[in-house]
Amino acid sequence: MCGITGYVGPRPGVRTVIEMLRRLEYRGYDSAGVAVAAQGDGDMRIVKAAGKLAVLESQLQDHWETHGAAIAHTRWATHGGPTTPNAHPHFSQDGKIALIHNGIIENYQELRAELVSEGFVFASETDTEVMVHLVDRAFQKLGDMETAIREALTLVTGAYSIAVCSSHELETLYCAKTASPLILGLGEGENFLASDIPAVMRYTRSVIVLEDGDFAKITPAGVTLTNLTGGAIHREPFAVTWDEQTAEKGGFPHFMLKEIHEQPRALADTLRGRLTDSERVFIPELEGFTKEQLAGFSHIHIVACGTAYHAGMVAKRFFENLLRRPVEVSVASEFRYADPLVSQQTLCFIVSQSGETADTLAALREAKRLGATIVSVVNVVGSSIARESHACVYTQAGPEICVASTKAYVTQLMVLYLIGLHLAATEERLTDELHQGFVRDLVALPDAVESVIGNALLVEDLAAKLADRSVFFYLGRGYDYAVALEAALKLKEISYLHAEAYAAGELKHGPLALIEPGVIVICLATQPAVFDKMLSNIKEVAARGGTVVGVVYENEHRLDTTADHLLRIPAVRPELSPIVSIVPMQLLAYLVAQQRGCDIDMPRNLAKSVTVE
Ligand code: F6R
Repeated sequence: MCGITGYVGPRPGVRTVIEMLRRLEYRGYDSAGVAVAAQGDGDMRIVKAAGKLAVLESQLQDHWETHGAAIAHTRWATHGGPTTPNAHPHFSQDGKIALIHNGIIENYQELRAELVSEGFVFASETDTEVMVHLVDRAFQKLGDMETAIREALTLVTGAYSIAVCSSHELETLYCAKTASPLILGLGEGENFLASDIPAVMRYTRSVIVLEDGDFAKITPAGVTLTNLTGGAIHREPFAVTWDEQTAEKGGFPHFMLKEIHEQPRALADTLRGRLTDSERVFIPELEGFTKEQLAGFSHIHIVACGTAYHAGMVAKRFFENLLRRPVEVSVASEFRYADPLVSQQTLCFIVSQSGETADTLAALREAKRLGATIVSVVNVVGSSIARESHACVYTQAGPEICVASTKAYVTQLMVLYLIGLHLAATEERLTDELHQGFVRDLVALPDAVESVIGNALLVEDLAAKLADRSVFFYLGRGYDYAVALEAALKLKEISYLHAEAYAAGELKHGPLALIEPGVIVICLATQPAVFDKMLSNIKEVAARGGTVVGVVYENEHRLDTTADHLLRIPAVRPELSPIVSIVPMQLLAYLVAQQRGCDIDMPRNLAKSVTVE
C-alpha cells in the first residue's frame, strides 16, 4: 500500500507533489521519491531516499522550485527491501521516462527475465521496475507515449495504480488503475492525481474516483478518460465536503473502521502471487527450503504476542491437523524464560505485524541461538524481525494505523493457512482434490468478509443494546476458541469493558458461577464437529439467565430458540472460519466503543508497537 501523487500546471511541480504526498504518509513511509520533467530543458530530474518523507525533503534544496509535470511516491515495501534503489520513481535506462506504482505485479519475474534477455539493465529488486522498461521498449517501437503505456499494461497481471511522466511529452501525465486506488483532482489550468483524496484537498474539492480499467491523460488544460483499449469513458466529478482529517480516514470516522473495511482487499493482496494457475499454493519466500529440510523438522513452534499469538493458536490447530506433528504455540514473553525445548530440529514461526515487538524479537533471537530455523510472518517490510529471520513471508495488509489490530490479524491467518498448505503439500500429505478445495475456499474468503461488512447494520443494532453492559464472556470450541480470545481482546482494548474468553467446555469448571442476568455471553458456534457440545454449553448459560449472542453460519438454525441475539456469517470451510467470524466481533467491539465514546484509534495505555519488554 504505497501513496502516489502527480501534478501538471503552473505551480512548482516538485513542491506541489511533495506537499500532496505529506497527506499520504499513512499509506507507507519506508522510502520516497520524486520525478519532474523540468520545464525549459525537458530534463527528467529524479530524487529518491530511503526512510521517511522528511529524508527525501532534506535532499530537495535544488529542486523545490522546479516547474514541470511531476510525480512522487511514498513506499510501503512489498518486493525488495526499503532501500534507495527500490524507492520509486523507477526510470527507463535513458532516464527519460519515470513511473510510480502502487500494487503488486504478479508476473514480474517472467517479465524481468524476458527484459534482461533483451539487454535491459535493472537498477532495483522491485516488481515495479519491469513496467517502466516495458513502457520504454514499447515507446522505442511505437514512438508514442500513450500507446506505449497501453501496450505495457496489456502485459502485466496483478494490481496497480501507476503514473508516468516523461521528457518525451512535457506537461503531460498518464495514469491507469486496476485493483489499487487512484483519484484525479480537477483544477483551473492545473490537474492532480493521487492514491487518495486528502492529497488534493488543499488545491481542489472537485474529484474523480477512477475505476478498475480506467486510463487517464492529464494536461493542465484537462483530463481525457478512456478504458485500457482506448474507448472513451465518462466519470462524473464529485465535490468533496469532508474535512482533511476525515478524508485521511477514507471518510470513515476512525482508522479502525477503515481498516476493517480494507480487509477484503488486504486478504486478496495477501493471496496474490502465492497461488498457481493449477490452484495450488506456492510461496516463493519458502522456495529456499528443500522438501527434505521441511520434512526433517521434528518440531514446530509458533511464537507471538497479543493478536498475533491468537493467529498462532489458529495455525497450531491447522498445522497439526494437516501435518500430524506436534505444534507448540507460545506467548513470546513466556517463551524466552521457559528454557524452551528448541533445537536444530525446530522450525520456528514468528508472527508480528510490526516486526519490532521487543518480546517477540527477543524470542526470535533465543530460538535462533538454540539452533532453530526461523520463518517469520510480518507486515512491516524490512523490520527487525523480518531481517533477522531465515525467511519471511509478508502479509500484505498495508500500514495499520489503529492500535487495535484488524486487517493485520486476518492477513496473518491467511499467510499461516498458506504456509500450512505449503508444508503439507511438500510433505505429500494432501490429495490434489483437498489442496485445490482449500485453495478455492481461500480465494472465496475476501467475498465472505465483504458480505459480513455489508451486514454491519445488524451489528450496530446489537451494539446499541450491549453498550451499557459491563461483563462479557466469549465462548468457543476448537477454532472458535481462538477467535473468542481475539474477539474478547478487541472489546477489552478499545471499549475498556471486562471481557473474558473461555474454551466453552471449561465453563462448568468455574466461570459458570459468574453467569447471571445482565452478563453477556457471546458464543461462537461455527464448528460442525463440536456444535452439539457447544449447544449444551449455550443452554447452560441461558438457564442461568445470561444473555446469549450466537455467532453462527447463515444456514444454521439450531440456536434460533435459545440465543437472545444471532449474528450470521457466510458458511465457509470450518478450518477457515476464523477469518470470517472475527469480522462481526471487530465490528461489535468498534461499535460498542463508539457508543461509549472511547478513543478508538488510540486506546488508553496502549501503543501500536511495543518495543519494551
Ligand atoms: C491487539 C494488538 C496487539 C498486538 C501485539 C503484537 O489488537 O494489536 O495485541 O498484536 O502487541 O504486536 P505485533 O504483531 O506488532 O508483534
